Amino acid sequence: MTAAADPITDALLGLYRRAPMEIVRADGVRLYDADGHSWLDFAAGIAVNALGYNDAGVRAAMLEALDTGLVHVSNLFRTAPGERLADKLVAASFADRVFFCNSGAEANEGAFKVARKWGKAEGGVPKHEIIALRGAFHGRLFGTVAATDRPQYRNPFRPLAGGIHIHERDLKDLSRVISDAATCAVVMEPVQGEGGVRVLDTGFVRELRALTKERNVLLILDEIQCGYGRTGTLFAYEQFGIVPDLLTLAKPMAGGLPMGAVLMTQAVADVMQPGDHGTTFGGGPLVAHVANHVFDRVNDPKFLAHVAKEGKWLGEQLLKVKQRSPKVRAVRGRGFMWGVDVTDPAKDVVARAMEQGLLLVSAGDHTLRLLPPLVMTRADLKIGVEKLEAAIG
Ligand SMILES: Cc1ncc(COP(=O)(O)O)c(C=O)c1O
Repeated sequence: MTAAADPITDALLGLYRRAPMEIVRADGVRLYDADGHSWLDFAAGIAVNALGYNDAGVRAAMLEALDTGLVHVSNLFRTAPGERLADKLVAASFADRVFFCNSGAEANEGAFKVARKWGKAEGGVPKHEIIALRGAFHGRLFGTVAATDRPQYRNPFRPLAGGIHIHERDLKDLSRVISDAATCAVVMEPVQGEGGVRVLDTGFVRELRALTKERNVLLILDEIQCGYGRTGTLFAYEQFGIVPDLLTLAKPMAGGLPMGAVLMTQAVADVMQPGDHGTTFGGGPLVAHVANHVFDRVNDPKFLAHVAKEGKWLGEQLLKVKQRSPKVRAVRGRGFMWGVDVTDPAKDVVARAMEQGLLLVSAGDHTLRLLPPLVMTRADLKIGVEKLEAAIG
């Protein structure tokens, strides 16, 4: 075999327009290339690296797990780290049962399957429809892409999985389409991420919760991006004053290792029997041990208060940038999750920010998405906002 001239682009399937630099190292809230250039991180690996990089506690947890020699044994055998983490998630939430998997899309696929089985138990085969909302992003697998509102993600793969429909974020419309006979679940992100960083209206969320209860329909909350401290509370739903039937998590759970989870009430869990669903890797002892450490760090009132306080400050700074710059149309968000609508194409601003030493992501053609590691200090947030303003121009 001959060495490819550019091994990074020759062998990998070309699904991403990757940034030109090659990251070789990271520490705290900064990433570095081989030539010593550094970037302040307002992307966190797309909302994954809540504790930043090279975190001493995450490192120690990884090494402790390796010391047991147990990276993986499969779910056919009991191991303590996953059981301990499930206990903690149950104690900290509405849920009674937890299923672990490996990614966000997998968590949502799992939740959809649980909802389908529950629907069948409640109302027979007709009670199978899943309703998602305008602007939703729930993943790229077959069930989840059908619940994802982006034509470019959906259209090349039609026909999509059946019985999954997207409707407007409008109670009148939803009241027409949600039916006791045909609907098993509504799925939504309390703060939509990829769809433009949209904090759903509290009244809307509460009324939708009431409507789903009234029609005997499950509410699945997708907190894969907005959960686990990102909006300043452990779970985003706490700020809306509602409780879901199922909740999905993933991104930050295991300090950058792949992990997802589906949390559910006992009434929902009762329909699932051994063999109904499964995963080879999900909740293995290495990832679950690290995830216990991440959970303990994030589920600390001081940690969450930092996100709430500094996130509010970040939002105020972004509004000031909007006042100063005619190129900023809108600012939306909560905690360490903000969207900035800009007149220029978002990808151009992201590229200019990179030249300024700031990593950003977008959420649509004209929306910048700010997702700093949750440990970022005010001093670094300030540097980031200055670089952002320079990149917006
Ligand atoms: C809200 C939400 N749901 C689901 C997913 C899919 O997660 P994954 O990419 O781990 O499959 C994402 C990913 O960005 C997300 O933001």
